[in-house]
Amino acid sequence: MRYLLLVAFLTVASCHEFKTIHSWNYVKFNFPNETIQNALITSGDYVPENNMPLGVQVWEDKIFITVPRWKNGVASNLNYFTKGDPSKTPKLNPYPNWETNNITTPDGIVSIFRVRVDACDRLWGVDTGVNDILGNSTSVRPVRIFVIDLKTDEILRIYTLKESDQTANSFFAESTVDVEPDDCENAHLYISDLGGYGMVVYSWAKNDSWRITHNYFYFDPLNGNYNVSGFNFQWTDGLFGMALSAPGKDGYKILYFHAMSGVTEFSVSTEVLQDSTLAKSKDYYAFHVEGHKGPCTQGPTSLIDTVTGIDYFAQVLRNGIACWDTNVELNPDTFVLAAEDNATLVFPNDLSIDRSTNMLYVLSDNLPQFLFSQYDMKKRNFFLTAASLDILTHICKKQNVNMERRLPHIL
Ligand SMILES: *[C@@H]1O[C@H](CO)[C@@H](O)[C@H](O)[C@H]1NC(C)=O
Ligand SMILES: *[C@@H]1O[C@H](CO)[C@@H](O)[C@H](O)[C@H]1NC(C)=O
Ligand SMILES: *[C@@H]1O[C@H](CO)[C@@H](O)[C@H](O)[C@H]1NC(C)=O
Ligand SMILES: *[C@@H]1O[C@H](CO)[C@@H](O)[C@H](O)[C@H]1NC(C)=O
Ligand SMILES: *[C@@H]1O[C@H](CO)[C@@H](O)[C@H](O)[C@H]1NC(C)=O
Ligand SMILES: *[C@@H]1O[C@H](CO)[C@@H](O)[C@H](O)[C@H]1NC(C)=O
Repeated sequence: MRYLLLVAFLTVASCHEFKTIHSWNYVKFNFPNETIQNALITSGDYVPENNMPLGVQVWEDKIFITVPRWKNGVASNLNYFTKGDPSKTPKLNPYPNWETNNITTPDGIVSIFRVRVDACDRLWGVDTGVNDILGNSTSVRPVRIFVIDLKTDEILRIYTLKESDQTANSFFAESTVDVEPDDCENAHLYISDLGGYGMVVYSWAKNDSWRITHNYFYFDPLNGNYNVSGFNFQWTDGLFGMALSAPGKDGYKILYFHAMSGVTEFSVSTEVLQDSTLAKSKDYYAFHVEGHKGPCTQGPTSLIDTVTGIDYFAQVLRNGIACWDTNVELNPDTFVLAAEDNATLVFPNDLSIDRSTNMLYVLSDNLPQFLFSQYDMKKRNFFLTAASLDILTHICKKQNVNMERRLPHIL
């Protein structure tokens, strides 16, 4: 009886874990003054309804928000506002500045989808280089990796991906950075190629990149049909979310990954990915099936809380956040829907952990409304919500399940 009550309590409580921190009808920027804002609206350089926030990353007192150039009139792609901004709808400040975010600036940023902060206070982002994807799609610059020093706001490196890293269908919307705080030179960026079904690895120390392929990077044709916000659409996006474990005894981590249009989770050791000769990744069996998540579990980003080993997943078909304790076997019973909300978690698009407050942040933006119709600017369209990792851990941790994890990677 007590057990049943506890279960009931958790089930009810779980729907309300995420609190809305900020929400927006549309994205506003901190323009130098109103004259300039009006001029940019007149010239078409700022079309308010075409600015959709997609990526979020929390670092110290800054919350970074990316606004990809899906349509014309994105005023600035890489932005931040201050954590604890008292406004319900904070204005975005271009990062590091307006000039770098102006697509006419020769070495400027064009369109980064998501940014990642590493253990050495560096901000990493892959710039797709494409403007106005849905309209007059134009490749303004090649695909480049940007690395920015968050302590000085200086761009440390801009690296252009090689021809051999890409295919004609390549598209890069997600990446994960791998580095330990005591070894900042030994950094790697793993970039998922959702359109070309591959992965690009960049080594900071070698200043070099290489492309890895595997059957597990493809989409599952049975799981590419979506119903979100009343829109029915089909996507063929392959490799997307990639979540890194804590380092193992051998110093390498496990990268858990999945296709956007798929419900299976896979894994591979970073030792395999870091081998630039590709000898290790050529071994088909170096990649493993972790398990199946169940129906309607498709989503873009996933992220591991390395303190607990719990992997968090954005769930676009369920308006929610799911979790899996990587210490236990993955199956539809251990893949838990930790929260859902049909108003504030519609198309959760990115996740970020804030260690200083031990919170998981989620940015939800109702993307299908933007892609297949347009936003109603009289409504709240974008939500930045957050939940305490202590509470989420209680919901997600499988303490009473047989903790004996199956022999690693038998599949
Ligand atoms: C707005 O800012 C621009 C550039 O800093 C400046 O030239 C202009 O005088 C300002 N206009 C007003 C009305 O403050
Ligand atoms: C970008 O720079 C150009 C040239 O200086 C200017 O005309 C344009 O208004 C700027 N765009 C934005 C969004 O600031
Ligand atoms: C599309 O973009 C190209 C390249 O920037 C430009 O030359 C052309 O005028 C644009 N067409 C329209 C309809 O905006
Ligand atoms: C990294 O490589 C690129 C192209 O291969 C080169 O242009 C750049 O100067 C290199 N950067 C460093 C820091 O070595
Ligand atoms: C998805 O939407 C289509 C078209 O609106 C509808 O026919 C179908 O039943 C829906 N599928 C599910 C699983 O909701
Ligand atoms: C959200 O909407 C779905 C579909 O209409 C419904 O099944 C689900 O119970 C709703 N969830 C909540 C928390 O209201």
